[in-house]
Amino acid sequence: MTMHTRTLGTTGPQISALGLGCMGMSALYGEADRAESIATVHAALEAGVTLLDTGDFYGMGHNEMLIGEALRTAPAARREQALVSVKFGALRDPDGGWSGYDGRPAAVKNFAAYSLQRLGVDHIDVYRIARLDPDVPIEETVGAIAELVEKGYVRHIGLSEVGAETIRRAAATAPVSDLQIEYSLISRGIEDEILPATRELGIGITAYGVLSRGLISGHFTPDRQLAANDFRAHSPRFQGENLRHNLDLVEALRKIAEQKGVTVAQIAIAWVLSRGEDIVPLVGARRRDRLTEALGALDVTLDEADLAGIERAVPAGAAAGERYPAEQMAHVER
Ligand SMILES: NC(=O)c1ccc[n+]([C@@H]2O[C@H](COP(=O)([O-])OP(=O)(O)OC[C@H]3O[C@@H](n4cnc5c(N)ncnc54)[C@H](OP(=O)(O)O)[C@@H]3O)[C@@H](O)[C@H]2O)c1
Repeated sequence: MTMHTRTLGTTGPQISALGLGCMGMSALYGEADRAESIATVHAALEAGVTLLDTGDFYGMGHNEMLIGEALRTAPAARREQALVSVKFGALRDPDGGWSGYDGRPAAVKNFAAYSLQRLGVDHIDVYRIARLDPDVPIEETVGAIAELVEKGYVRHIGLSEVGAETIRRAAATAPVSDLQIEYSLISRGIEDEILPATRELGIGITAYGVLSRGLISGHFTPDRQLAANDFRAHSPRFQGENLRHNLDLVEALRKIAEQKGVTVAQIAIAWVLSRGEDIVPLVGARRRDRLTEALGALDVTLDEADLAGIERAVPAGAAAGERYPAEQMAHVER
């Protein structure tokens, strides 16, 4: 398989057309197997994936240390190609709770110092605050990252889950490579205002939740038991009647996938890839078999008839339930 590449915005790096999101290897989706996680990162690098996405708060540093170990133990040629995208700013507590966001310039530099150490690298390739800190103007947060760029500790500035107005203000402060935001067949909220704004400003999209956290992967079953600390146990889309409705959408998608001889996950990822060269899906594979399936999406071509069939199976707005519980929806700009 030849790895396709895409460029993140007009100022960002050239990267593989699929990135690997490493969150589930440390947090939020129940137990993960450390050895298999590292093997998955290695397999991704071997297949030509060059973008690894993490957050310093994924397992309170666990995910960065895991990536650090995976990079240290990867062949030098693969390690040198890898780019690491880090989110910071989420405040946690020892019980695993979430207590807000900190985008003050001094905090940005503090977060970065710890991330560099945990990752074992001398620079972070893309650095972004996970959510807007409502008490700190975005210009100050982005300005602090721009200072880290000047000093060589960060290469590119990213954004995460912010709306068009914040994107414009950030881009007026310093060059922004990409916006990381949820985008999938069942989370199409960016299409009205956010995507036109990033396109106008030459900012790329790193799309997360392209499988809606496994919900539209074709592997999620209604009887799946989720641990209390699994995000999905509290996510509106995974509850009761909402879950049944959403899995019906998946069955409609499965018919299309079967006709094309591919899997549901591959159709869902290929659909995001088909939305534009400016979009790079981050897939949350944490096992090698899932990674192999996800990479197969790069070879799936969707023609007009396929896209029309997918649109009929899963029309915009078809999902039941919000993508986050209400208290977390309050932190995402729409
Ligand atoms: N900026 C933000 O606010 C934000 C928020 C969330 C995530 N992210 C980033 O985006 C990345 C991706 O998000 P996500 O993990 O929620 O995305 P996702 O790819 O929609 O969901 C990943 C889950 O889907 C399941 N899955 C089933 N088949 C799969 C396949 N073939 N390939 C991959 N996964 C498959 C896996 O569950 P099983 O392992 O149980 O099978 C996996 O845990 C994260 O790792 C993180 O780096 C960013």
